[in-house]
Amino acid sequence: MNDWPYSATVKKHFLHPQNFLAEGEKFTADGVGEVGSPACGDVMKMWIKVKNDRIIDLRWKTFGCASALASTSMLSEMVLAKGGMQIAAALKITPDDILKKLGGLPTNKIHCSVLGDKALRAAIENYLEQKGTPKKPASKIICECLGVSERELELAVRAGDRTFAEFQKRTKAGTGCGRCVEKITKMLAEKIDANSDKSCCSFCQKSCPQKKSKPTDQ
Ligand code: FES
Repeated sequence: MNDWPYSATVKKHFLHPQNFLAEGEKFTADGVGEVGSPACGDVMKMWIKVKNDRIIDLRWKTFGCASALASTSMLSEMVLAKGGMQIAAALKITPDDILKKLGGLPTNKIHCSVLGDKALRAAIENYLEQKGTPKKPASKIICECLGVSERELELAVRAGDRTFAEFQKRTKAGTGCGRCVEKITKMLAEKIDANSDKSCCSFCQKSCPQKKSKPTDQ
């Protein structure tokens, strides 16, 4: 059969998922994260063990599809390679990094690669909270399927995203049920507008005649 739309690496991880929490396995975790939306059908839970701010072990479990299984299995290998990543390095992993390692996924399955990444971030946040790091004020979730927040939209606009396609490439927002696309597109336009006002100057806003020219610092 030649209609399997996945790479050999995806197949390998799907058939032999690494660091999956086995039935009945006891795993003492320092941080736990759970993400996903039953509306999209995918829920992911991850447990991490941390020593000296290094993730030395982890387990995960999902009710997701083959792509979610393969991408989280790959992510777990990336995090645990060479004795485990420092938390700061693990937080820099992006869904695109996982996709590259997997040799890609079918377009309609790309959102699955985000679940493990989000669960890992949630587990790290949980670990840091337990250590006494003040909890960051929660940002409103604007894409429930992918757990993408309004804060991520703000940061993306500051990083230069100007179209929904650019934001989607960065976060995979809207690749699940798709019902958030219209709302996020509108929010994106508003934030771009607000951001361009900020980059003008503190004395004038929308009516500034220099708005389109580069502001000069005195
Ligand atoms: S809410 Fe389902 S893709 Fe965004």
